[in-house]
Formats: sequence, structure tokens, C-alpha cells
Amino acid sequence: MFWERDFEILSRPELEKLQLSRLRKTLHQASHASYYGSLFRALGLSAESIKSLDDVRKLPLTSKQDLRDNFPYGFLTLSKRSVVRLHSSSGTTGNPTVVFHNRHDIDSWANLMARSLYCAGVRDSDVFQNICGYGLFTGGLGFQYGAERLGCLSIPAGAGNSPRQIKLMRDYGTTVAHAIPSYLNRLYEVFQQEGLEPREATQLRAFVIGAEPHSEEQRRRIEEMFGVKAYNSFGLSEMNGPGVAFECRHQNGLHVWEDAFLVEILDPETLEPVADGEFGELVMTTLDREAMPLVRYRTRDLTRILPGPCPCGRTHVRLDRIVGRSDDMFIIKGCNVFPMQIESVLMKVPGVGAEYLITLDTIDGADEMLLEVETSGDLGVAGDVEAGREGDNDNSRLNALARSIGRRIRDEVLVTPIVRLRAPGSLPRAEGKAVRVKDLRARSL
Ligand code: COA
Ligand code: AMP
Ligand code: ZN
Repeated sequence: MFWERDFEILSRPELEKLQLSRLRKTLHQASHASYYGSLFRALGLSAESIKSLDDVRKLPLTSKQDLRDNFPYGFLTLSKRSVVRLHSSSGTTGNPTVVFHNRHDIDSWANLMARSLYCAGVRDSDVFQNICGYGLFTGGLGFQYGAERLGCLSIPAGAGNSPRQIKLMRDYGTTVAHAIPSYLNRLYEVFQQEGLEPREATQLRAFVIGAEPHSEEQRRRIEEMFGVKAYNSFGLSEMNGPGVAFECRHQNGLHVWEDAFLVEILDPETLEPVADGEFGELVMTTLDREAMPLVRYRTRDLTRILPGPCPCGRTHVRLDRIVGRSDDMFIIKGCNVFPMQIESVLMKVPGVGAEYLITLDTIDGADEMLLEVETSGDLGVAGDVEAGREGDNDNSRLNALARSIGRRIRDEVLVTPIVRLRAPGSLPRAEGKAVRVKDLRARSL
């Protein structure tokens, strides 16, 4: 029933006792980082300041900007020699966010991942295909280590090449796969193009879906298309990556592993705790990380804690699915994008004007990012010029410009946009604050 019975079904008082001692240990460890060390000294805080879990509110919040401002080593508590891996966000504009792990951290993360998969009913008898970016994306190695720890036959398929994904599934009898939900629409289309029905052509019985917001309807649609169960998986790179919160077989919210993460839900405006069961911003403190503990990290994800116990017996609280963000980040094809990243790239390109519009849409089953960009006056664009992602053979100056924009954006955010150059003054102007992103994707949140 449980992968780590010692942790998963602790009584609430036992769990809270463990959290308190781990919180104190975490603060002690965090004070070795230059950022927290000087901040705690200035605020007169130490592990001894924490007498109860409620005292967490005495501690300062940590933001993504703090991570960026103290890039690369300001949050590292150990010597570089003691750490074994880093994961980092994409981008060349400004500082990325980077998280470092020592051996203990990687081991603890692998356990959390194995626990998460087990919780969703994955067993060592499963063939597990990880359809997700490897490299610096945390979903690649995160799921890989977890599936191996659990003992599955794992297939590190990576992202892309849908016909090959289908072949891998059929050749090796994949029973469980991890992918982002929007990609599964595309995958289903490719099954159909090949004249295959996943129910008959594969042995798939479950998906693990996550890394981007999706609705209950979207989950049910995926389940029906493929004839499988789909379990929601939540995580973020700053908290390791996947393995923060996971659905159990009851599919009624995501158990957040409270022995490893202390959870608060705050009003994003006042930064005060919301009433029990209300929506607010998820704020998390790591409780079992050594190389780079994070204290009260503002995830910017909006959710709530679901009331009541879960029939599975796990005592860790359940988060509702993420309903939005308290900042302007969006996720496309599993890649996180801040509109400001796009703007910074565009403003460096000669010939580009001041106005642009990002439209996210679902085209032939796949999510795409359309980027409309006004040229500056002297290019003399009369109508629209489009550079498809495939590129074309027209070597005109405008096509070259559109292609160059596409490449630069891809280098920054990892996704290739469809670039459309527009004549100066042709994009709609907003009355107040400029609207930079239109989301038309078929996700019905
Ligand atoms: N996962 C898996 N495959 C994906 C995908 C995703 N999130 N998004 C797109 N793809 C597939 C496409 O279907 C296409 O394959 P196909 O034509 O054989 O079906 C192929 O990847 C290339 O996609 P395309 O949209 O042309 O490329 P792009 O340059 O815009 O995007 C990706 C490049 C797909 C490599 C990039 O979006 C990526 O790495 N996404 C994965 C992110 C991820 O795994 N996030 C989870 C982190 S925990
Ligand atoms: P990353 O740090 O790249 O792994 O991205 C983390 C972000 O992805 C989170 O902060 C969420 O905004 C989003 N995310 C991850 N998992 C989910 C999920 N299951 N549902 C909704 N959003 C998710
Ligand atoms: Zn449960």
C-alpha cells in the first residue's frame, strides 16, 4: 500500500513533530548560505527562534528574484566540491534560477519520486516511459531516478519524435508513461495518423501528467482517448522538480509530501495566511535538503488545501489542482516563459518595433506560440510576413528577420515560435496596461 510507510501514514502530531525538528535543522543549514546567513543575522533569527510550526511566519519569504539576485552560489550552503548536480531554468537574458544538490538531496528526491509513483499505483512490474525533456529539465532525471528506485523497466525516451514514442511503447510494452497533458493530444493524433488506437495497439494502463496547468475535463479526455488512468503530478525546480505532490489512486487532489516540504497558503497581496480551504499562493519550505535549502519560497502557484482525510490512509494534506499563477509566467510545451524574456530578446533585434503580441493556441492538436511583432518604420512592411517554424526558402530581408527572431526566441525559452511580422501601428493598442499574452489553448481551465 505504501512505499515509505514510516513517513506516509504518520499521525498528524507525529508528522508535525518531525516537521518542527526538520525545520530547525533546515534553518541551521540555511544559515551557512551567504544569502540566508546575513539575512538571519540582520533579523536576529536562528533555529532557536522556532518553538512551534507557527513560528515559520517569523521567517522571511524567498522569491525567484532573490534567487536570481544571488546567482549563482548565494544560496549554496556547502562547498562546490560537496555538490553533485545542478538544475537550472532556461534563458540567456538575466540570471537563471539554479538549484544545487548533494548526494543526500539526490537520494532523498529519488525516494520522493519512487514514493510518488507508487502512490499513483506504479509498481516494479511496470514498463515506464518518460516522455519528457532530460538535461536541465527536472522531469527527465527526476522521474528517471524515481522509476529506477522503484524498480520499473524505465525508458528514458525524452521529448519529441512522436512516431518513435509510439514505437517504443509498442516494442517494449510500456504500461505507464509520463508526459505533459497538452502533448498527449498531439500523441493521440499521431496514433490516429498511423491508423492505430492506443487501447488496442499498446499495453498502456496509466499516465502521469503534470508540469503544466490542466483541467479535470482535460484529464478525463486523456483518460478516454487512451483508455488509461491519468494521475496529476506537481512540482517545481526550486523544490527539486517533480515529486512535491502527487495524486493517489483516488484522484482527489495531490498529496504533498509534508515530511519534505512545509506548506503554507498565503494571500498573494497581503502575504497573510488564507482561511482553511481557501485559494491562495503556495509557499514552501524544504525540510530535507542540504545543499540548497529554501525558506518560505513563493511558488506563485495558486491552489488550496483540500479538507478532510483521504481514503488511501495517507495523512499528508492534499493540494487542489493549480488554478493559476500570481505572476505572468506561462507554460507552453512544458517550457516556462516570462513575457519579459520575449521582450528582452525582441528589443535587441534591429528592425523590431515596440509592440508585440504573444498568442498561445492549439493548432492541429499541438500547442503553439504565435509571436506577432511590429517592425520599426524603416523596413516598410506593407502587410504581414510570416516565418513558419519549418522556415521557407525565401531569402528576403523580412523572412530573414522573422527567422532570426524565431531562432533567438528558441534559444531563450526553448520553444520555437511562429513569427509574424506586422506593419508598424497594426497591432491593437491597449487602453491601460499593454496586453502581451492571449491564451486561446484548448485547455478549458
Ligand atoms: N513533450 C514531448 N514532446 C513534445 C512536447 C512535450 N512537451 N512538446 C512538443 N513535443 C514534440 C512535438 O510533438 C514534436 O514531435 P512530433 O512532430 O514528432 O510530434 C517535437 O516534440 C518537436 O516539437 P516542436 O513543437 O516542433 O518543437 P519546439 O522547437 O517548439 O519545442 C521541444 C521543442 C519539444 C523539444 C521543447 O518544447 C521541449 O523540450 N519540451 C519538453 C519540456 C518538458 O519536458 N517539460 C517538462 C519539464 S518537467
Ligand atoms: P519547473 O520549475 O520548470 O518544473 O516548473 C514548475 C511550474 O510548473 C510550477 O510552479 C507550476 O506553475 C507548473 N506545474 C508543475 N506541475 C504542475 C501541475 N501538475 N499542474 C499545474 N501546474 C504545474
Ligand atoms: Zn490518497
